[in-house]
Amino acid sequence: MLNIGVIGAGRIGAIHAANVAASPKARLTWVCDPVPGAAARLAEFGARASLDPAEVIAADDVDAIVVCSPTPTHVGLILAGVEIGKAVLCEKPVDLDSDRARECQQAVEAAAGKVMIGFNRRFDPTFAQVHARLRDGEIGKIEQLTIVSRDPSAPPVSYIAQSGGIFRDMTIHDFDMANFFLGPIETVLALGQNVVDPQIAEAGDSDAAVVLLKAASGAVGTIINSRRCAYGYDQRLEAFGSLGMLEGRNQHATSVALSTSTFSQAANRVQDFFLQRYAEAYRLELDAFIEAVAGNGEFSPSLADGVAALALADAALESSKTGLAVAPVGGIAEATG
Ligand SMILES: NC(=O)c1ccc[n+]([C@@H]2O[C@H](COP(=O)([O-])OP(=O)(O)OC[C@H]3O[C@@H](n4cnc5c(N)ncnc54)[C@H](O)[C@@H]3O)[C@@H](O)[C@H]2O)c1
Repeated sequence: MLNIGVIGAGRIGAIHAANVAASPKARLTWVCDPVPGAAARLAEFGARASLDPAEVIAADDVDAIVVCSPTPTHVGLILAGVEIGKAVLCEKPVDLDSDRARECQQAVEAAAGKVMIGFNRRFDPTFAQVHARLRDGEIGKIEQLTIVSRDPSAPPVSYIAQSGGIFRDMTIHDFDMANFFLGPIETVLALGQNVVDPQIAEAGDSDAAVVLLKAASGAVGTIINSRRCAYGYDQRLEAFGSLGMLEGRNQHATSVALSTSTFSQAANRVQDFFLQRYAEAYRLELDAFIEAVAGNGEFSPSLADGVAALALADAALESSKTGLAVAPVGGIAEATG
């Protein structure tokens, strides 16, 4: 039984805390949030509540921490955990600054720290199966990857202002998937758009984007993002290879389909947002982390994967500003997958 402390009791912290509490392999011993009352809300799962991350990390009944606090706190909490030998599952992105993330990676590797990054989409059963069947050779060698990732609605501009921008905050998931499917990326060409909310443009960020990626293998990836989508949370992935295509399609609350003599309706509305769409992925991600701590598997996605995705985000931001194709810095770090 792995004793886990969850740090940060917001949106994603609530998901991880519930999954730890429900896991037969783990015990939720602590929840921490500096906002009075926030941790106590999640401590209903039987955990103790704290306002202080240091108290939770040091606790004897914490073997591992799940870091769900805002991005600027991630590096400090990863290092604090690793320093005293605690395993860490940290939410994406590692940091908003690539240099800081790389320094963190070096420090963790030097200490042989056990750190996994929360790129949950790798664990989505649909996308994981596309990946596994590609690896099994069902569609031959991958030539083109297309990822569509659109949120139902834009977050408040106050969130945008501290998010690090669309590429580091939102596309970061897709950059990790591109690394996962295509291997090292050599070139990034990005076009930002402002079509959703003028306040996002005023904050200096794009609210939609299209990114082209050229992998060292010669394969090309396309990522299509929008902060707004009228029909729900649009999450699709297509791998095209020499022998065919594998598609991960949108999922719907039910699969009821109506067909009449004149009309055929495939299904009802796509799922609302990440909480529903990736519920199973978060559970499987946690399970992979628990198994890695027990010595059954790698800490993957790794901190190196987190740094590699951030390098692509930096390159995309530069490309969207200059209009030029950009090589990611340090850039073609070998991603695990
Ligand atoms: N993988 C995913 O699908 C996914 C989804 C959402 C968010 N995230 C990531 O998770 C992180 C949190 O996002 P969120 O949407 O849950 O934010 P949120 O604002 O809902 O929650 C963050 C919580 O952390 C608390 N907090 C602030 N400083 C803290 C500290 N030093 N120690 C402990 N807690 C602290 C806040 O009070 C808040 O309750 C971000 O890095 C975000 O990028 C990942």
